[in-house]
Amino acid sequence: MKIVVAPASSELAERIAHLTGFEKILVASRIFPDGESYVRLEGDVQGEHVAIVQTTCAPQDSRLLQLAFMAAAAKRNKAKKVTAIVPYLAYARQDKIFLQGENISIETIAKMLQAAGIDQLITVNIHEANALELFPFPARTITAIPLLAKYFVDRGVKNAFALSPDKGAMYIARQAQTILGGEVGHLEKQRDRYTGQTTQTAKHLDVKGKIVIIFDDIISTGGTIVGAAKILKEQGAQKVFTACVHGLLIGDAEKRILDAGVEEIVCTDSVPSKNSKVSLAPLISQELKAQV
Ligand code: R5P
Repeated sequence: MKIVVAPASSELAERIAHLTGFEKILVASRIFPDGESYVRLEGDVQGEHVAIVQTTCAPQDSRLLQLAFMAAAAKRNKAKKVTAIVPYLAYARQDKIFLQGENISIETIAKMLQAAGIDQLITVNIHEANALELFPFPARTITAIPLLAKYFVDRGVKNAFALSPDKGAMYIARQAQTILGGEVGHLEKQRDRYTGQTTQTAKHLDVKGKIVIIFDDIISTGGTIVGAAKILKEQGAQKVFTACVHGLLIGDAEKRILDAGVEEIVCTDSVPSKNSKVSLAPLISQELKAQV
C-alpha cells in the first residue's frame, strides 16, 4: 500500500506513513487564479493499492474535487485500488430529505467519488452511520471517541461525567464512559429545520461538584456546547470540558465556548487547528495495516 499525502491532510498523512511504514506519494497542488484546483501525483502508483488521506472540511467543495482528481489520476496511472481516507466527510449531515425539494447531498457526493475511481472509503465518526448505506461502494466509519477520552485520562482526569448534548449522540458519551469510568448522561436538543437554530432543554443531571466532559461528533458554531455548558454550570458542575472529533469551530465559536466557562476544547486532527490535540494517525494506521 502507498499513502497519498494529499493537500488537506498532509501532516496526518505523514504521521500515518511513519506509523505504518508505507511508502508516501507526495502531491503537487495549487489553486489557479480563477479558483480552479490542480493536483499531480508525484510518484508511481501502477499496480498499487493507494490510500489518499484528504479531509474535506472548508473549503469543502474544492477539497472534494481535489480528492476526486487524485483518485482519477491514480486510476489513470493504473493504481490497482483506491481507498479514500476522509477523516471529516463534508455533506454527511444532509443524509436524508428533511424538507420537500431538498437533495440528499451525501448520496450525490458518493456517486461523484465512485465516478472518479474510489473503490473504498473510510471516514471517522460520521454524523449518522446510515449515510454510508447510500454509497455505491464499501464505505465505513471508525470512532475516535476512545482516543479523545484517553486524552483526559492521560492528564489525570478520571471518573468524569461523560455528557452528550442530545439523545442521538448518547452512544458517543457511552464510548467515552468506557474509558473514563464515570457516569453518563445526555441533554435534549431540538433543531428548527428551516432556520437551523437549536434549543436545549435544561433537564436535571446529577453533575453537582463533578467534572463533566461534553462529547460530540462536531462542533460547528459552538451553539450546542455553549448551551450545554450554561446548563451544567447552573446545575453546579465543578469543571466543564468539551471534546469533539471534528472541530469546525466556525467564526468566534472557540471564544464563545471558552467565555461560557469551558476549561478546554479538545479536537482531533480531522480538522487541523490549534485545538487538534488528538491525532487520528494511530487509529487510521491500524485500519490500513489490517488491509494488507
Ligand atoms: C449535530 O447534531 C451535531 O452532532 C452537532 O451537535 C452540531 O453539528 C453542533 O453544531 P453547533 O456547534 O453549530 O451547535
